[in-house]
Amino acid sequence: MKKFFIKTYGCQMNVNDSEIVSSILVKAGFERVGKMDSADIILFNSCSVREHAEERVRGRITQEGSRKNSSNFPIIGLLGCVAQRNGNSLLQEIDALDFTLGTDQYRKLPDIINKVINNKDEYGFDQQNSSEIYEDIKPLRNTSVNAFVTIMRGCDNFCTYCIVPYVRGRERSRSIDKILTEVRRAGQNGYKDVTLLGQNVNSYNYKDYDFASLLKKAASIDTIRRLRFITSHPKDISGEVIATMAEEDRICESIHLPLQSASNKILKKMNRKYNYEKYFDIISELRTAIPDIAITTDVMVGFPGETEADFLETYNALKNIKFDYSFTFKYSPRPGTKAVEYSDQIPENIRLDRLQKLIDLQTVITEQKYQDLVGIQTTVYVEQVSRKDSKELSGRTRDNKIAVFPGKKELIGSFVEIKVTDAVGWTLRGKQIK
Ligand code: 5AD
Ligand code: SF4
Repeated sequence: MKKFFIKTYGCQMNVNDSEIVSSILVKAGFERVGKMDSADIILFNSCSVREHAEERVRGRITQEGSRKNSSNFPIIGLLGCVAQRNGNSLLQEIDALDFTLGTDQYRKLPDIINKVINNKDEYGFDQQNSSEIYEDIKPLRNTSVNAFVTIMRGCDNFCTYCIVPYVRGRERSRSIDKILTEVRRAGQNGYKDVTLLGQNVNSYNYKDYDFASLLKKAASIDTIRRLRFITSHPKDISGEVIATMAEEDRICESIHLPLQSASNKILKKMNRKYNYEKYFDIISELRTAIPDIAITTDVMVGFPGETEADFLETYNALKNIKFDYSFTFKYSPRPGTKAVEYSDQIPENIRLDRLQKLIDLQTVITEQKYQDLVGIQTTVYVEQVSRKDSKELSGRTRDNKIAVFPGKKELIGSFVEIKVTDAVGWTLRGKQIK
């Protein structure tokens, strides 16, 4: 039985896609292994959202390729967004690469691997298939506690910086029955914390169901205890979604709401379809409806045309809103997108300087947010033995913060009350309360 290992880069969507790929391969008679070194087939599920992510995967393919033996093992395949964007040219460029497969082509995987093994040939497939949603495939999950459930694929928004609509195609929503069945089954199998996934979950649309109605139904499934969702788009999040979050006990007090920029001029140029005032109103509405909600965001600096004044607006927004955490990025030009053609690109040194300023600011805010929690009691869903200390367990709070405390591994998968005794960086430390 041939063994495979998947290395996943990028977003949670890719994490779930790797679980779908694993399921397809196991069904076809391959075995999943947890170490790259022991695999006959290495798959890289790649991300092309920024240039850096693409470079990393190329480097890694070349590195692993140097281990190939005279029979061409390990076989190396590239999946995901980079394969979709320029898989065929990478096949020409990188000797070690045996095949590439775009995001809608994973059902072909067993067949292609067998062909590569038998013929020692190379293949690249990047056709998009706007109806592929892997509806019938039960993901083979990476962990035994957290489940991702994809509710939609693709994106129709065309933010001018973003490669996603080109590599993941048009938006399509999965059947509500299939989603609810998957959530219920995940809970029955011990996955008590479920995250609904999509590039823009707020535009979920299946027959008469919108995202608020899906959320309400999923939140009433009693085999799970916690429900989350990513990612939300400020232009689409409705009052009904916020009201549902406030009403339903299983929906966690946490949301990821990408801001990108607080300058209205830049937001317009990004084609984000909201302005800062609207974004701020949503934050106020969320905090009024769900007082202890944790809010995280994505922000980008150095988008073409961003002046010092535009940047300051973003800087001040972070200072005012005080996100629990911000994922900060410097703009990376992606070939094929609209923004790459803008003539007013910002020099790298300015982009880096602005990025560092945001990181410094957010670090102080995040540390303060965590310090504020010292002394509280909270419920932790225990996920794993702590990587740093085998006598400690690591888990997650409802507001999506990592907490560690001394405990035995039998507690993995259960809910434990802790008292927070300390906050070290971005980890809460605590003690189990008897
Ligand atoms: N350059 C830098 N960051 C980007 N993102 C998306 N496209 C780019 C790009 N071209 C960021 C956005 C998005 C997150 C997933 O990645 O902030 O929300
Ligand atoms: Fe996810 Fe976008 Fe990266 Fe693809 S390009 S893995 S959709 S973040």
